[in-house]
Amino acid sequence: MAMSAQTTSRGSYPRFHRWWRNAVFYQIYPRSFRDSNGDGVGDLDGITMMLDYLNDGTSNSLGINAIWLCPIYPSPHKDWGYDVSNYCAIDPDLGDLESFDRLISQAHQRGIRVILDFVPNHTSDQHPWFLRSRSSKEDPQRNWYIWAPGKGGEPPTNWMSAFGGPAWTYDSQTGEWYMHSYLAEQPDLNYRCAEVVGAIHDVLRFWLERGVDGFRIDAVARLSKDAELRDNPTQSALAGITRAEGSGVRVNFYCHDRPEVHDLLRGFRRVVDSYGERLLVGEVWPREPSLLADYLRPDELHLAFNFRLLKSPYSASAFGAAIRYGEGLGAAGEWPTWTLSNHDFPRHISRYQSAEATEERARMAAMMLLTLHGTPFIYYGEEIGMREVDVSPSRRLDPMGRDGCRTPMQWSAAMHGGFTVPGAEPWLPCGDYTQINVSEQARDQRSLLSLYRRLIWLRQRDPALREGAYRAFDGVPRDCLGFYREGAGRRLLVMLNFANAARETESPAGTLLLSTKPERVQQTLEARLTLDANEGVVLDLGNA
Ligand code: NOJ
Repeated sequence: MAMSAQTTSRGSYPRFHRWWRNAVFYQIYPRSFRDSNGDGVGDLDGITMMLDYLNDGTSNSLGINAIWLCPIYPSPHKDWGYDVSNYCAIDPDLGDLESFDRLISQAHQRGIRVILDFVPNHTSDQHPWFLRSRSSKEDPQRNWYIWAPGKGGEPPTNWMSAFGGPAWTYDSQTGEWYMHSYLAEQPDLNYRCAEVVGAIHDVLRFWLERGVDGFRIDAVARLSKDAELRDNPTQSALAGITRAEGSGVRVNFYCHDRPEVHDLLRGFRRVVDSYGERLLVGEVWPREPSLLADYLRPDELHLAFNFRLLKSPYSASAFGAAIRYGEGLGAAGEWPTWTLSNHDFPRHISRYQSAEATEERARMAAMMLLTLHGTPFIYYGEEIGMREVDVSPSRRLDPMGRDGCRTPMQWSAAMHGGFTVPGAEPWLPCGDYTQINVSEQARDQRSLLSLYRRLIWLRQRDPALREGAYRAFDGVPRDCLGFYREGAGRRLLVMLNFANAARETESPAGTLLLSTKPERVQQTLEARLTLDANEGVVLDLGNA
């Protein structure tokens, strides 16, 4: 593994070859992590304050070494930052460019990389580009967005917004419709216009110059649309084209996964590559699972999220299928990603809720996530088992009902969970911080936080866990999963029992490195092993 020290004006930190392969990512929702100025909203200085919690270089900290920040740009917050009104500035609620530079420099000093959420598919309808575009059909920026005349008073196509309703809004000022994949306040940019491509490349350069280590790209599959604005066909109509199974369901054929999206990604990739080792990880929801591999060609995205794991119920067969999918993306799947929760879905501990085993299930999920082959992404708060919060109707802010997974980080049992000062009102209500918080779990060796710390540090220190190949171990019962991690002359075996009852399994002789059950003591194992209900173990099988 090539490694050299790189010194930048913002500090010195090691550069690895394809550093993301050694990364454990931590996704931060900036408004909810830590409020440094007592206004009830988390901010960039708040994140900087808590970097030692994330990684202080010792196993007393979480040990992550990369952060993904959800959007930090000025925004009217119709979609909480995913409606950007200025790509090259910081939302005043979160800080300014100076606080941003401080965060990058302090993170890099701790060996933590920082990637930004990049939202190129659409802007806010308040972005100056759209205000110009909307102002007149003759404006030189008119074609920066997708405008079309209607069809007899109806939208130009039958395309639907991902948030419901038609993907077109009529604008009476110029008598045309504009296209939006999401809210009407999020008009889609027109990447058939060369100036838009140039302007977006400049945005990438702006942040790369400021030292970011890459980007999570939003809504990748939607970036390009059919030039002729054809109506989406039904599955059965499409069957003639792709020979897929027919049905009356409409397929996003002409506004999704268009071939030109790949040219756009190659363009983004050329820009980031000109800055050295910077990462592009895509939020890709392909129309068909097999299409994901196309986005991972060598000159496109480095990584793409595999949402199959996040979408799986708590079961060995569902998780196993998601893992086989991630591992099976061919050459493109050479380096998968794994994630169980993010800012768009109910938190996994709440999805896996069970009368007797909710916390045990979260421990199992953590062991699976952090021992798989590929880059794991943790969503802030999952390491302490923060639950989905039932936000009362009067406090709801997100038009799509996602507030419950975006609530303030629960740092302590103090007022507002220590997220903000006692006199402030947090922007979203807090969960049950008296029961679930960092400071209590940090003191408890048996806590979920302690398990996350152990797993992450085990991964950071063991080359077989970081880089070793994945190979399924078939000797486990049906409701269990087993896999080897082999590399750097070492061999580990991970066995996970998802059943609510103990299971006996075959097991090669090995040494126990870690169990999800704190009560299991270190032991040497021979030939057979009994896994407790919802117990996972990592075994060291010695040299390969
Ligand atoms: C995906 C983001 O994760 C989600 O939060 C957002 O609402 C949509 N893209 C639109 O940007």
